[in-house]
Amino acid sequence: MKITSKQLRESWIRFYEGKGHVNVGAVSLIGDGSTGVMFNVAGMQPLMPYLLGKPHPLGKRLCNVQGCVRTVDIESVGDASHFTFFEMMGNWSLGDYFKREKTAWTYELLTKVYGLDGDKLCSTVFEGNDAAPRDEETASLLRALGIRPEHIFYLPKSDNWWELEGTTGTPCGPDNEWFYPIDPENPAPVFPDDYVEIGNDVYMQYRKTETGYVPLENRNVDTGFGLDRMLLFLNGLHDGYKTDLFAGAIARLEEITGKSYDGDEAARKAMRIVADHTRTTVMLIGDVNGILPSNTGAGYILRRLMRRAIRYCRQLGVEPAATMRAVAEVFIDEVYGEAYPLLAQKKDYILGEIGKESDRFETMLEKGMAEFEKCVAGIARKNAFMAQKDPAYVPETVIGGKQAFRLYDTYGFPLELTEEMASERGLAVDRAGFDAAFREHQEKSRGDVHAGEAKGGLESHSVQAIRYHTATHLLNAALKAVLSPDVNQKGSNITDERMRFDFNFPRAMTPEEVKAVEDLVNEKIKEDIPVVYREMTLEEARAEHFVGVFDSKYGDVVKTYSIGDFSKEMCGGPHAARTGELGHFRIVKEQSSSAGVRRIKAVLE
Ligand code: ALA
Repeated sequence: MKITSKQLRESWIRFYEGKGHVNVGAVSLIGDGSTGVMFNVAGMQPLMPYLLGKPHPLGKRLCNVQGCVRTVDIESVGDASHFTFFEMMGNWSLGDYFKREKTAWTYELLTKVYGLDGDKLCSTVFEGNDAAPRDEETASLLRALGIRPEHIFYLPKSDNWWELEGTTGTPCGPDNEWFYPIDPENPAPVFPDDYVEIGNDVYMQYRKTETGYVPLENRNVDTGFGLDRMLLFLNGLHDGYKTDLFAGAIARLEEITGKSYDGDEAARKAMRIVADHTRTTVMLIGDVNGILPSNTGAGYILRRLMRRAIRYCRQLGVEPAATMRAVAEVFIDEVYGEAYPLLAQKKDYILGEIGKESDRFETMLEKGMAEFEKCVAGIARKNAFMAQKDPAYVPETVIGGKQAFRLYDTYGFPLELTEEMASERGLAVDRAGFDAAFREHQEKSRGDVHAGEAKGGLESHSVQAIRYHTATHLLNAALKAVLSPDVNQKGSNITDERMRFDFNFPRAMTPEEVKAVEDLVNEKIKEDIPVVYREMTLEEARAEHFVGVFDSKYGDVVKTYSIGDFSKEMCGGPHAARTGELGHFRIVKEQSSSAGVRRIKAVLE
């Protein structure tokens, strides 16, 4: 290795500190919701308010190395250069220096610090359009620095303009991108095919609005160079999985699978997917605002990544949970532990969650695969049959939306996983049909909830009240766990805004006990456990340790709801489908209700 990831991180920060920048450090990978972008996709994202003009407490010159997660092309991961997590080395001028200094510093860093040949560098600038002029200024600065005129290219907005896709109100502008020959020994490289982009300087001087671009008061610079990409390239490598960021994980996978990364193409692709997705899983669960796999939002993306990795572990013929945990350990212990100390602290938690998600998926995977094969076989059978009858018949190549929804709903196959498996068989999936089936299911379960609600005798009919109802079950179980197994529910009252819960206990709870109960409920919410409904006889329910609140009311056959092993209650329902729907649980008050009975008031927020 000519340069390690650690040296690269440090050299970047040192260089820009030398130019008067303050290292602001990295922030959470999870988007803060202000832009609607789920993850942090660029180093500039947390700096948005400052790029728009708010003074930054640490000054006008900032730098850092920021983890980013980009999941637009999860399906491309498996080749040599696509990753879902990467680190962006960045630096910023907040209305301070501009093009002259920035071009000079990037050139100095690339040629003097990293030893690239200035004669070989290529650079692209914005060709101009209605919104912003052609960037002659940057081009002439580049020429003055020594970049060959024939190595400077003017490109349109699609290439040389940077903005956060899908957002408005955010800062943006033309950019100057830097390229180097993939093979530096190539005597006559042709742009762009023989070049690799190494980073870019964005001249952020516009704000994107609904209708166009308006100039910002400040002329900012936003620089981003991918650490993973630079590392590859500075070490003369062509495969991103050969850098010190991945070498350990790949070696571990070779050990576990007994297969050779270099010698076996199918194994190579699978190992890359397992390594990349496990790394992102570690980063997302181990983040300060760590998330867990679920069926919505960012949690769903994480689930897709984890389930895709699990599938590829199976393709490699190895046990997914153990394999992913072993790879995760390499990342935590050997690669990222120092730069991201929280990962080491959260290590057991991360490994545990990998195991849980793997168990959840594994129990359904065999059956789901069989179901998938049935769909494929059904299409093949139909095609063969029709082709016999009608030589002009055009073969069916699409898996139906209802079938894809069944795989999703019953077997936990993310739609994209089904699509990927289908495409391996030359088939597509009817996405619109899937969406329709999804909506139909949602409407139907909403209907069921209302029907159940009447029986459950809840005063309110809202979704929120149903969530509170599920929260009482979690609270009941948490009180038993924290205070005493003898604690029992004595009553409850629910509105859309809060819940009240009475239980027998001889004294006031301590603040620590209140906190422990609250934390435990929130932990179970975060785990996004399905709430499972079953009917059984009272004897069966008792044998399975279901607790009944008002035993006397039950007939022979009872309705039960269980939340994993955590909570088992006989109850008429209705309930939320999963605990993840509940949001955050907070105890507002713990007080006396009557002799020997305490009352908790709590809210979901
Ligand atoms: N914001 C720019 C990028 O993400 C630097 O590439």
